[in-house]
Amino acid sequence: MFISLLRYPLGCLLAVSLGVLAPLSQASPLGTHEYRQADAWPFGPLVTSGRDIKDTRNQTVVYAGANWPGHGEVMIPDGLTYQSIETVVTKMKSVGVNAVRLTYAIQMIDEIYDNGGDDITVRAAFIQALGEANGTARFAEFLQKNPIFDESTTRLQVYDAVAEECAKQEIYINLDNHMSQGAWCCNTRDGNSWFGDTYFNVDSWTRGLAYMADHGRSWRALTSMSLRNELRRPDNNPQLNEESYHWQDWYKYVRQGADAVNGANPGVLVVLSGLDFDTWLNPVVEGTALEPGSGLFDRADFAGYGADKLVLELHNYANNAANCDGLKRDLYAKGYRALHPEDPKTAEVFPVLLTEFGFAQATAWDSVYATCLAEMLAEERAGWFIWVLAGSYYIRSGIQDYEETWGLLNHDWSDWRSPDYIEQGFMPLVRDTVSP
Ligand SMILES: *[C@@H]1O[C@H](CO)[C@@H](O)[C@H](O)[C@H]1NC(C)=O
Ligand SMILES: *[C@@H]1O[C@H](CO)[C@@H](O)[C@H](O)[C@H]1NC(C)=O
Repeated sequence: MFISLLRYPLGCLLAVSLGVLAPLSQASPLGTHEYRQADAWPFGPLVTSGRDIKDTRNQTVVYAGANWPGHGEVMIPDGLTYQSIETVVTKMKSVGVNAVRLTYAIQMIDEIYDNGGDDITVRAAFIQALGEANGTARFAEFLQKNPIFDESTTRLQVYDAVAEECAKQEIYINLDNHMSQGAWCCNTRDGNSWFGDTYFNVDSWTRGLAYMADHGRSWRALTSMSLRNELRRPDNNPQLNEESYHWQDWYKYVRQGADAVNGANPGVLVVLSGLDFDTWLNPVVEGTALEPGSGLFDRADFAGYGADKLVLELHNYANNAANCDGLKRDLYAKGYRALHPEDPKTAEVFPVLLTEFGFAQATAWDSVYATCLAEMLAEERAGWFIWVLAGSYYIRSGIQDYEETWGLLNHDWSDWRSPDYIEQGFMPLVRDTVSP
């Protein structure tokens, strides 16, 4: 913690001298929110200490929350044609949620650069995504539900308002780059799967990460950023698959992404995710070769922040699991071992977040899968984000107003989809992980 505080002035001055500091209301270059964070919520910057995330009070922070998608074609957080930001955040807060994994697409930042540095308006974004007639109609609903906005509101200003409401209600934001293109994620043929894939330009990606990290300096609630959702085989791109889909290149690119985030915003934790849809992290956890090379993961390669800013994330969708012990063993073997310094096979201890898991709310909330993951998370006191804070999406896979049966909320985001799950599954999970 002391080390990271000492690092701060340097990082800020560097950012100022490079002219990349986001406009902040404070006059002093050192008077950024990171300082003020320290003695008020979120008591940041957060750091890692072994298997835990700690705040400036040395209290352990366990994220308990949900994914709030904003990476679809409209490229603003979903649900806002049905409810206000305040209503959505209040609803989550009412059941104990303390964090959201807020997703965005790199395309949003590419379009800002293409547009001479200015973001496009939400009106234009709705029309671009949904067509003239439906886009105009949805934008009118968005304004009606969210009268704080107007015709000139941009997409980033919606993110800013979400961040402000989260800060007000003390909900941490883990900001996640979900896709390059604004679109539903993921499959291995969507061109967004791996560094250098059809739509996954590495320079745009690092530029976008740095842009959002820098922009997020003015978001009090922003405490961590993940680099890329669900890295996966580029099956549409056999040569790239053959030559690059491996841990050696994973390490090369992940370091670039992590440096981009930390260079622009040294206050946030950096979340690293694994291969094959973020389902395994073994070489990082076990200190084995990053194949096909022989190099090893080394915190020193993350200069100045590797010691206390790196967090791991895993996803799990083994929804048909019939045996809880088997599921737990699998998760342990693929990354949760990192929470266990006592295990001789653990080379590096990290906090591990389950940043995605989910199920059909009405029919599967009491499945072996759902109850087992809850049990595991409680035993490990590990952070989590369920898929998904939604009831419907503006558009998904070409279908507008898409009904999300895995969503915590009903179609118009007005109430819980499965009150039984919220009472008997979700709220106990929050309690058992955050404050057992
Ligand atoms: C922080 O808390 C941990 C227990 O969670 C304790 O072992 C450690 O000594 C504390 N560190 C400081 C600086 O108080
Ligand atoms: C426009 O919205 C209506 C419902 O309001 C829907 O039936 C129609 O399919 C949408 N148009 C497109 C092109 O998706």
